Amino acid sequence: MYSMYALFGRTPDASRAPSYRKRHRAAGYAFLILLLLISYLCIDFAVGARVEPSPRASLHMLLAFVVTGLLIVKISFLRLFRQFYDQAKTMGTVIGILTFALVGVSAGYYLAVSRLGLDKTMDRSANYSFRGPLLEVKLTGLPSERIRTDSRSIERGLIMFESRCANCHDAHSARTIIGPGLQRILKNQKLPVSGHPATAESIRFQLKQPAGRMPSFAYLSPDEVDDLIAYLNTL
Ligand code: HEC
Repeated sequence: MYSMYALFGRTPDASRAPSYRKRHRAAGYAFLILLLLISYLCIDFAVGARVEPSPRASLHMLLAFVVTGLLIVKISFLRLFRQFYDQAKTMGTVIGILTFALVGVSAGYYLAVSRLGLDKTMDRSANYSFRGPLLEVKLTGLPSERIRTDSRSIERGLIMFESRCANCHDAHSARTIIGPGLQRILKNQKLPVSGHPATAESIRFQLKQPAGRMPSFAYLSPDEVDDLIAYLNTL
């Protein structure tokens, strides 16, 4: 934006125009590449998370769509529909301001609530890892996740499993009743249906936002879920 402002809004010095143009074009390509890359990651993230986006995430998405649309129209004005060339200037400014808002509601918000990134518990993206070459987003566990191993937790987990899960899940085989058998559920590499890594965090996620025909268990307390996971870990 600055290079174009300098070019159109200030500089009487025509000799510098090509250099401003060049800078603007380089910044434009960098912007486009970043936009495509980040959009790809965000879409992958949203699909992987299978969650209805929060109000803030919705606003972020809306801004991203508007910025992308404006950018396409602006480039078409510059390359194809030159009669509209003048409007490209205004659009550039609007794209710049909307991008500022776009980054503000997500990265800005994150930096603010996590005290500039120092508070790692805010970083839910720690649940995800990137794998090349297509930068697949996968749920993983929080690195420090500990699973309870004391016999009382396991016993409470067993009782809960019998009453809430056993109708649909066989604990002692991989046979499907309504849901898949859960034998070795946390010892295998991946969960049977979603293919998410077999971690406590993935199970938590499944209980909160289950896929397919499994009902949600979002009402269980974190303590109850920990017991349930302690039991699943013994299978
Ligand atoms: C009404 C039946 C039903 C109940 C009750 C139920 N589930 Fe499920 N569960 C399913 C179905 C169906 C699937 C397969 C989901 C799909 O189609 O993606 C599933 C999948 C799963 C998976 C595999 C998820 C994956 O990502 O592969 C786990 C783990 C699981 N359930 C755990 C539980 C636990 C723990 C409970 C008890 C708190 C429970 N389920 C209760 C039906 C049920």
